[in-house]
Amino acid sequence: DCIASHRVIRLPGFIDVHVHVREPGATHKEDWSSCTAAALAGGVTTILAMPNTNPPTVDEAAFNLTQKLARAGARCDFGVYVGASTDNYSKLTSLAPAAAGLKMYLNETFTTLKLDDLSIWMKHFEHWPRAWPLCAHAEGSHTAAVILMAELFNRPVHVCHVARKEEILVIRAAKERGLPVTCEVAPHHLFLTSDDLDTVGQGRGKVKPPLVTKEDQDALWDNMAFIDIFATDHAPHTVEEKNSDNPPPGFPGLETMVPLLLTAVAESRLTIEDLVERLYTNPRKIFNLPEQPDTYIEIDLETTWIIPPAMKFSKAQWTPFAGRSVKGMVRRVVLRGEVAYIDGEVLARPGFGLDVRSMRPPPAADQLSINIPPLSSLPTSEPTSPLKRIPGDVR
Ligand code: DOR
Ligand code: ZN
Ligand code: ZN
Ligand code: ZN
Repeated sequence: DCIASHRVIRLPGFIDVHVHVREPGATHKEDWSSCTAAALAGGVTTILAMPNTNPPTVDEAAFNLTQKLARAGARCDFGVYVGASTDNYSKLTSLAPAAAGLKMYLNETFTTLKLDDLSIWMKHFEHWPRAWPLCAHAEGSHTAAVILMAELFNRPVHVCHVARKEEILVIRAAKERGLPVTCEVAPHHLFLTSDDLDTVGQGRGKVKPPLVTKEDQDALWDNMAFIDIFATDHAPHTVEEKNSDNPPPGFPGLETMVPLLLTAVAESRLTIEDLVERLYTNPRKIFNLPEQPDTYIEIDLETTWIIPPAMKFSKAQWTPFAGRSVKGMVRRVVLRGEVAYIDGEVLARPGFGLDVRSMRPPPAADQLSINIPPLSSLPTSEPTSPLKRIPGDVR
């Protein structure tokens, strides 16, 4: 059918700050080429890649390896996180300007990087430069604990994939106090609950944080004003792995996020402005991301379609949203003047993507528009060298 008869709008290229690319180490689940193809098909022109790879991105050698694979394979723009381990806090400082941010895993999940000891958390909060993003997988009470760390060390923290009522309520209270916390919510927590496990399947439905109750989900929607970012937590595992006796947690999400959110727009539960704020404006602010010149996506607001058993580009080859009717579709993606995606075809080649941290240095912390209180006495002997300026290219 013809695009001319449909309402098509142009929006900025979306940014997904939470993606598990799986390369290096698990390219049977996903790799840079397949993941960024899925991103473009989903209307996403920048992804930030999580560090729970194999090897995990916890030192310079692993970071350089991942960056090299990303440069060669990425079809869209990207950043690479470093991961906090029990002993790497002093060595990460020099990587900060080239990294998307620091990721701390504070709960049990699909990672070797879980940090149990509060004194280790403190080391990372002390050492990671405050001008660069610090993100935490911090479920339940850990949400409150990590906000306390941000307050103690006088620096912002970004809470990943908020899912529960208790989590969003404590973040709301902290924000109302002016504490420097931001947060993201994943589409699967906005559009699925534990009631959907019968349909999705108990094994396939495993994800961290888990699918929780309708009451939890309602609390996310009721507190939409306190949700800074939508991020997929795209965490592909193969359908064989998800069907196995010991299924790993995680859902693919890049190709379904925008259609699900557009459906909520069609139902008047969200506005287009809500999407642009949470998928472009706020991610750029919170993560200090550069503008992508001549970059936009074209969205058909009217086409209704059924999400198939598997989306086209992710290697996951399953989706928890199969069978859902959605209204709205990504038609075209233009990235830096090139048509990167059009009507089911990804045209951008591996290697077209640029590292967001090679484009320009991030602004100094005092120029960030998020609330960072003035420097008070830090609970540390050794002042964090803030704001080491870097010339244009950090490679
Ligand atoms: O469900 C999840 N899967 N949660 C995480 O925190 C990690 C992710 C993964 O890497 O598979
Ligand atoms: Zn048509
Ligand atoms: Zn996580
Ligand atoms: Zn994740």
